[in-house]
Amino acid sequence: MSTFKYINKLKGQRILIFGATQGMGYAVAEASIEHEANIIISSSNPDKLSKAVERLRKSYPQASKEQISTITCDLSQIDGMEERLREVLKTVSEDGAKPIDHIVSTAGNQFDLADGIKSVTMDIMHKTMSVRLLAPVFLGKIIATSSYFNKSYNSSMTFTGGSAHIRPPPGWSVVALISGGIEGLIKGLAVDLAPVRVNVVQPGAIDTESFTGLPEQIKDNVLHHSVDHTAVWISYAKRTPTFIRAHNASTPPPKTRF
Ligand SMILES: NC(=O)c1ccc[n+]([C@@H]2O[C@H](COP(=O)([O-])OP(=O)(O)OC[C@H]3O[C@@H](n4cnc5c(N)ncnc54)[C@H](OP(=O)(O)O)[C@@H]3O)[C@@H](O)[C@H]2O)c1
Repeated sequence: MSTFKYINKLKGQRILIFGATQGMGYAVAEASIEHEANIIISSSNPDKLSKAVERLRKSYPQASKEQISTITCDLSQIDGMEERLREVLKTVSEDGAKPIDHIVSTAGNQFDLADGIKSVTMDIMHKTMSVRLLAPVFLGKIIATSSYFNKSYNSSMTFTGGSAHIRPPPGWSVVALISGGIEGLIKGLAVDLAPVRVNVVQPGAIDTESFTGLPEQIKDNVLHHSVDHTAVWISYAKRTPTFIRAHNASTPPPKTRF
């Protein structure tokens, strides 16, 4: 029997990861396998999901067949969002027989706001809000109203925000709305879903596949000259999230404990 006290906490746990075909979500999938969790990876694109599984199996040949599975779900459509997500949770939890222990979402669709507020359209607003804000809202509702998720202080939901709402650079109003919105939402969900822990990671600029195709100069500008801030808010059982870490923050972290 293992004598580890800490690194076996995820062993055998069921983790549903939205946005796991690339970038940070893929890294979460890798880390979860290394911790011997059972992962269900999700994205909007079945081909990308198959390729991600192929890559994971190549990196982790010891992973069992049951340890990695997939489910397709497009989070960019507002119509039918709640029903689609409910079906996903119902399927992956086998109708509640095998409840999910953790949900992580790093899902993020591309959008073109090159001309800042002048480029905003209703379609961009619907799609970006749908993936990054509405999906977490309805995941919260489904967890509160179903047996598909293990409602315990050992369980968690972790979403991905950003830092644009702290000090938005020019042209980032919509991005600031989303990152500020998700921070508020997780504080509320942490109260409403207690004892489940609800967290948000607010990354600074991170060189993932989302930068693919950007001209080198723009990429360099974003990676080296944007606000350098990575922060993590984590909730503990029955508490709203507490600001726990800012890395290389050029803006000071909030002073308050929430
Ligand atoms: N990288 C950064 O510098 C940075 C900084 C701050 C915040 N963020 C935010 O952090 C999150 C992760 O960033 P990342 O760089 O890892 O992103 P990424 O590499 O672009 O990955 C995004 C993931 O979201 C999935 N996705 C896209 N559209 C979707 C949809 N309609 N429904 C469901 N899933 C969808 C993608 O898979 P499919 O295409 O297969 O659906 C992919 O797996 C994003 O929300 C991003 O905005 C990133």
